[in-house]
Amino acid sequence: MSKLIISNNLSISPLAGAVGAELSNVDLGADLSDATIAQIRQALLDHGVVFFHDQDFDTDAHKRLALRFGDIFIHPFFDTRGQDPEIVMIHREPGDTHIVGEDWHSDTAMVEAPPMGAILFAIEVPDYGGDTLFASQAHAYNALSDGMKRMIADLKVVNSDIRVAGPTTTRNENRTTKSRMDADWVATETAHPVVRTHPETGRKSLYCDRSYSIRFEGMTEEESAPLLDYLMDWGTRPEFTCRFRWRKGSVAFWDNRCTKHIAVDDSHRDRRIMRRIQIAGDRPF
Ligand code: SIN
Repeated sequence: MSKLIISNNLSISPLAGAVGAELSNVDLGADLSDATIAQIRQALLDHGVVFFHDQDFDTDAHKRLALRFGDIFIHPFFDTRGQDPEIVMIHREPGDTHIVGEDWHSDTAMVEAPPMGAILFAIEVPDYGGDTLFASQAHAYNALSDGMKRMIADLKVVNSDIRVAGPTTTRNENRTTKSRMDADWVATETAHPVVRTHPETGRKSLYCDRSYSIRFEGMTEEESAPLLDYLMDWGTRPEFTCRFRWRKGSVAFWDNRCTKHIAVDDSHRDRRIMRRIQIAGDRPF
């Protein structure tokens, strides 16, 4: 039976052993008290990702909610020309064969200060399929052997958006939401510690992913691949994950500093429309 923790009016029901909790009795479109925002933030720190159902808020209310947790992060490579740059619409149409978030990743890991989190709101979802999986990178790090922890302690991983944007990406083929491919686009590359420390909890997490991580700093791609592959596979073992089934009006708010996620590509015949706002973060250390 799931554990239900009632704190004031907010109910918190963990979804899996390592990551994820559903929060209820809160209207995210309302002008929430500082105390409720603090409870949501604490639940996020405790569970890595928090979920809500039966929400209904427009773009302005979505922004107001995000701003309670930090500044809005402007996504650098989605093609939002002519649209509101603070919003990324994640849009799948029937027949799309690529989707946003189709590999395990933490968001926008190639910039110096990746977002601390994202709030994703479901506008239209299929009756089934199109779930999202999350993985706790703090649990993944903790479960490594002491020898492996020692070996990776000082490694930095070079992250780049070369696979997911720009003229050579294949991700835009048959995908409704597009990354920039224009001539002015330049790849962004930054080296971050492969073991990062959470700025609020002090907990260590693995920090490398399939969308952005290319190689270890000071090593070739070929030299890096075996260990990088191992860490990426390890970080998504089932015991570190949870799976969220969306409904219209559901919300996921994830801590991008200590989790990874993947959108499950199994709803080829359906439309799926989500609105995402990211919240600015710090440089990983
Ligand atoms: C993302 O990677 O941010 C998208 C996740 C989803 O659409 O489920």
